[in-house]
Amino acid sequence: MVVYQSAAFITMLQAAAKTLSVAITTSVSRGILLSIRYYCKKTPAKLRVSEAVSGAELGANVKVQGWVRSVRAQKSHLFLHVNDGSSLQSLQVVASSELNDPLLTFGSAVEVTGTLKKSPNQKQLVELEAEQIHIVGKCNPLEFPFKIKERHSLEYIRQFPHLRCRTNAFSSLLRIRSEATTAVHSYFKENGFLQIHTPVITSNDCEGAGELFKIEPSGPDYEEEEHFFSVPAFLTVSGQLHLELMSGAFSKVYTFGPTFRAENSQSRRHLAEFYMVEAEVSFAQSLEDLTKVMEGMFRSATEHVLAHCAEDVDLFHKHVTPGHREIVEAMLRNGFPTITYSEAINILNRSSENFAFPTDWGCDLQTEHEKYLVKHCGNIPVFVTDYPYDLKPFYARDNQDHPEHTAAAVDLLVPGVGELCGGSLREERLDLLTARLQQAGLEDTYSWYLDLRRFGSVPHGGFGMGFERYLLCILGVDNIKDVIPFPRFSHSCVL
Ligand code: 4AD
Repeated sequence: MVVYQSAAFITMLQAAAKTLSVAITTSVSRGILLSIRYYCKKTPAKLRVSEAVSGAELGANVKVQGWVRSVRAQKSHLFLHVNDGSSLQSLQVVASSELNDPLLTFGSAVEVTGTLKKSPNQKQLVELEAEQIHIVGKCNPLEFPFKIKERHSLEYIRQFPHLRCRTNAFSSLLRIRSEATTAVHSYFKENGFLQIHTPVITSNDCEGAGELFKIEPSGPDYEEEEHFFSVPAFLTVSGQLHLELMSGAFSKVYTFGPTFRAENSQSRRHLAEFYMVEAEVSFAQSLEDLTKVMEGMFRSATEHVLAHCAEDVDLFHKHVTPGHREIVEAMLRNGFPTITYSEAINILNRSSENFAFPTDWGCDLQTEHEKYLVKHCGNIPVFVTDYPYDLKPFYARDNQDHPEHTAAAVDLLVPGVGELCGGSLREERLDLLTARLQQAGLEDTYSWYLDLRRFGSVPHGGFGMGFERYLLCILGVDNIKDVIPFPRFSHSCVL
């Protein structure tokens, strides 16, 4: 049986039923008619709040389910705002005070049936005139950690990881995060990339930094030396090596999934579990072939989010991080400049800033340096290229034609965050790669990786973008724990 969901369709049936009831007199027809009316009356169309507030279903008899965001009882009327997470806007419900109930409180879950009417109040287009309010789940407002009409800070709501999705700010964040995920996938699809599901469990340490979480079964009878996988296995720090393998058959590939780093860090931009977008491009001749993709993805995802989550982004830009909208607009207005690492070091050494970390050639750039460089370049994203060879992992391509010993690596630094993307051309030359792996004692471990250079090797390169850092950048939020549903970091794995 087809069940029609459209409230307008049901209203049409109701009207038809009324007209028909006058015209049709046979008992069979009356029976059919009664069942249509019974169906129409008993099953108002279920609408999401976003559909209800849009105004498209005015006059319809509907049912809306959600959580009460505000309650105001007057002498003759009761006003509620109900939200179901489908939009930042809540639906105003107007009811006779007879429907009031002491259990109708801020935070309670309700099901409201009634008719959608044009609202006399300018603040909203539509309101729901309630015929029935059913309390599905009560909520004691005195014990509920969020208070009606209060704008709680991100730091405050972070203390309630199991409840913070019920606040306006965090539900906006989750809608933005979901839309940004869609935008990233759309960018890659529109640009001819193939999505690869790279593994979460792996036996290699792509970055070689030793920040691995080891995986073994936890059962009482299990001897760790046995190794469940026969070899030591870890949660992935990056899908790059698996993407590189695929880039031997597909010229554009990407992956977007969780990655893990056992970094003992409490910083505002590091997590132990974070999402990374990674791409690999075969036949890449220069870093420009990679920076084009990084910039294109950043622009396209940001424009998509601004267009599709306007109200949610506004909530951040107006109330959480005022002034950040102008920074985002400036990022989109300007092309992203490129400087070399050596130029960056010169800029840092010429500045009058007192940096905590050294700025000698050969030292890694720290967050304080990255933020300074971004400001220096006009507070817009900036690419830094050609880092000292020894700072980069074994896979980075040796810039043999440069006077200093550098690698063809590139980072994208962005306002407020510092490093957003890290990438490089990969060493595709068998002899150079073999020598570097031998030096590190990794020749056997990576014999399969060397094979990729033996059989149809091509110049290629790729990058990874920290998805949470991207959200920090476009929203202006300061702490990475506020842009992921379930933050994991050292000494914290709640829920
Ligand atoms: O610079 P990273 O370590 O690069 C790689 O992992 C490469 N294998 C990627 C590739 O070329 N396919 O990490 C890439 C990005 C960083 O620029 C940063 O934005 C983010 O991942 N990132 C983190 N985000 C949150 N918490 C952490 N602990 C992060 N570590 C890196």
